[in-house]
Amino acid sequence: MSGSGKPLLGLWLYRSGEEWDYKEESPLAVKKKEDSKDSQGELEKISIIFTLKNQVGGLVRALQAFQDLGINVQHIESRPSQDGEHQVDFLVDIECDSKKLEQLGRMLKREVLTMVIGSYGNGMEKFPPPTPLSAATSFDFDDMPHFPRKISELDDAQNVLMYGSELDADHPGFKDPVYRQRREQFFRIAMNYKHGQPIPKVKYTDEEIKTWGVVFRELHKLYLKHACKEHLENWPQLVKYCGYREDNIPQLQDVSVFLKRKTGFQLRPVAGYLSPRDFLSGLAFRVFHCTQYIRHSSDPFYTPEPDCCHELLGHMPLLANPSFAQFSQEIGLASLGASDEDVSKLATLYFFTVEFGLCKQDGELKIYGAGLLSSVAELKHAIEHADTKVKRLDPDLTAQQECIITDFQLGYWYTDSFEEAKEKMRTFAEGIHRPFGLRYNPYTQSVEVLSNAQKITAVVSELRGDLCIVNSALKKISAKDSSLDINRITTLLQTGLVINDEDNHNDNPQQ
Ligand SMILES: [Fe+2]
Repeated sequence: MSGSGKPLLGLWLYRSGEEWDYKEESPLAVKKKEDSKDSQGELEKISIIFTLKNQVGGLVRALQAFQDLGINVQHIESRPSQDGEHQVDFLVDIECDSKKLEQLGRMLKREVLTMVIGSYGNGMEKFPPPTPLSAATSFDFDDMPHFPRKISELDDAQNVLMYGSELDADHPGFKDPVYRQRREQFFRIAMNYKHGQPIPKVKYTDEEIKTWGVVFRELHKLYLKHACKEHLENWPQLVKYCGYREDNIPQLQDVSVFLKRKTGFQLRPVAGYLSPRDFLSGLAFRVFHCTQYIRHSSDPFYTPEPDCCHELLGHMPLLANPSFAQFSQEIGLASLGASDEDVSKLATLYFFTVEFGLCKQDGELKIYGAGLLSSVAELKHAIEHADTKVKRLDPDLTAQQECIITDFQLGYWYTDSFEEAKEKMRTFAEGIHRPFGLRYNPYTQSVEVLSNAQKITAVVSELRGDLCIVNSALKKISAKDSSLDINRITTLLQTGLVINDEDNHNDNPQQ
């Protein structure tokens, strides 16, 4: 079995109309029936693509099959396989008749991991000519920004831009040597951290806990009135499992374990502002880079940078929501390999949704953005000026707005739901130039590059498995639950989320 749990052999690609399809049955068997009237021995030009483990003798054993059948190999080329490490793809061009081809297919099956056979030429376009391996690489990774493929590669994507181990002169803690020394400790924890390690627990000082308590108390009062329901509904569990209390700063490790169980997200300590590319890359793997230090005690309601009050109070309750978690991850996936310009737009969209976004619930504007949920003054400002400053999210417009770090934002954006925000972001992400699709595989914690028909077909096979499960569940539940809207689910599957035209054209959030 392969890493994705599918049989390794017998994936035969067909072209059916404009769609790729696959069958478990060898095309050779089908071809034999259809060619029963053909004369035996008529030569066809055939191309075979197969994948081998990169080990001594593997190719020799595969080519032995050609030799045993007296088939002349006209051309052969190879490349490292993108299906897995230590695997190599081979393209072999041959000329032989259908009988030998069938024998060859049977013999090769014993030696290779995957195989695709196609015939071409002589007007016999029964199967499409396979794409030569050299041409299959329709993209060139060298021309695009590097991006991590595995979750462990996030260890190499830690470019801290601001407030790493040094503070700017206007930082409230700049003139406090004790605070600066403390920040050095947090810096070292973050920079020494490697994927898979538990996040070191910190013994916070009395002064730090006092600062936390002041912020906690004030913000919690505002949450009850202004936070979205998804934020509020996870709060009791954070209290119960992670020690969210006025007199206790929760440990990142405890929160990370909690999130992993809720949505698959996990935390990683970070020393300060990461580059937008590195931060968004983490989201693609459901990794949230999280500061562990706290703001300076001189002004509990101001910080020029994210701190643990912002992360723990603003972000964590939402990251425990599955829909929001998916929204966050999709922004991250869209950023991988994107141009600097597109990453900048995505970072701006992240800023005005995940950091400063609002949503309408039961006719009222509620807040889900962590930047607002961790700033008493700006939260009140946004709500009080909602009629003039809050507009419906429009990614093309929103991506143009300036992000302000040390003052209130010039405007804010809202949607009716995370689903609407997700759908709009998906449409926006479609416009990002990238010559392939990317998919996160949670089993291997790696990103799959969907760069050819074979890989896409494999994903479709997995999706089909999930759809069968959904279909079976629908049949069982529909008889018992009259609230089940089969038509809506069908529409969702066929076209994705449908947002009402009425909602799309309603630009006044107060209506
Ligand atoms: Fe944040």
